[in-house]
Amino acid sequence: MRISNWLANPFKLNALGILGMNERNSRYIAQYNDRHLYPLVDDKLKTKQLMLDAQINVPGLIATLSHQSQVQHLLEHLPKNRGFAIKPAKGSGGKGILVIINQHDGLYVKTNQKLLSLEQLQHHCSNILAGLYSLGGNPDVALIEELIEFDPLFDGFSHEGVPDIRVIIFKGYPVMAMMRLSTQYSDGKANLHQGAVGVGLDLATGKALHAVQFGKPILEHPDTHKPLAELTVPDWQKLLILAARCYDETKLGYLGADIVLDKKLGPLVLELNARPGLSIQVANGCGLKPRLKQLEKIQHRRDAEHRVSYSQKHFTAKPDFDAIA
Ligand SMILES: Nc1ncnc2c1ncn2[C@@H]1O[C@H](COP(=O)(O)OP(=O)(O)O)[C@@H](O)[C@H]1O
Ligand SMILES: [Mg+2]
Repeated sequence: MRISNWLANPFKLNALGILGMNERNSRYIAQYNDRHLYPLVDDKLKTKQLMLDAQINVPGLIATLSHQSQVQHLLEHLPKNRGFAIKPAKGSGGKGILVIINQHDGLYVKTNQKLLSLEQLQHHCSNILAGLYSLGGNPDVALIEELIEFDPLFDGFSHEGVPDIRVIIFKGYPVMAMMRLSTQYSDGKANLHQGAVGVGLDLATGKALHAVQFGKPILEHPDTHKPLAELTVPDWQKLLILAARCYDETKLGYLGADIVLDKKLGPLVLELNARPGLSIQVANGCGLKPRLKQLEKIQHRRDAEHRVSYSQKHFTAKPDFDAIA
């Protein structure tokens, strides 16, 4: 399917089962996500606690800064001689995230090898606390997190940054998944709006189906030239069960779970989203609506393992790379 051809035509979008923003908000988010549950996922600190209580692994928390007065003591909060990430607790879309992969002579090395001084990190933290990157511009908290070291299996698939796997979970059932790969452009972050590559993944197998960057189909990683059709996520069923469990823990009916595969710790829940974006459909070359409608009819409650088996059986797809070659 040629995604670029149908993006502009609303009638075709509907025929292909593409979910639009209005319908997502009114039919799914408003009806299936209780407003009072939002804070659980809109604040990364709260999400971490919720996941830890459920014995679900998350990236380690090194420190939090909640007052400007703590910024001048930043050095005391940073780990020595290793990498870390600084992020706003209430940020989204990769905004305000600084990934430091190493330290050298009192300087901090970014994913693209650029060096930052302690003063520059302090300035960044100060901006986070002032709410520069956060929902509604409200004052925020800065998290200092352990650096995720991604599984070497993905070497060559991601450039200078940790890839993550987004799974949309509806009523506890996985409906669609994609892997997001960092590029030189996305500056160590795997967010599509920052220029990362989105690769649709087959729910049955964890194999790549289709890939896009900036909404356009691509066949290779733009920096490493690795063929994206070769991408397969290992332990796929386990990963889907982990994502499905996030529904049981949050009770959000329409949820985006972001998972990373750490070299040593295995799958970690990076963050959860109550308003997950729609570009997962572009990455998969297929629409969400038919799957959501099918699940809307389901009444019975089942555990995460059963829900995953259902999705793996019903929501399978064929790779689409040849169609754009
Ligand atoms: N601890 C970390 N170590 C390495 N990379 C990270 C870390 N945290 C985030 N990133 C990178 O930044 C991206 C966005 O992080 P995330 O926590 O999902 O924030 P956002 O809500 O802004 O998307 C991730 O997909 C990943 O590529
Ligand atoms: Mg994210």
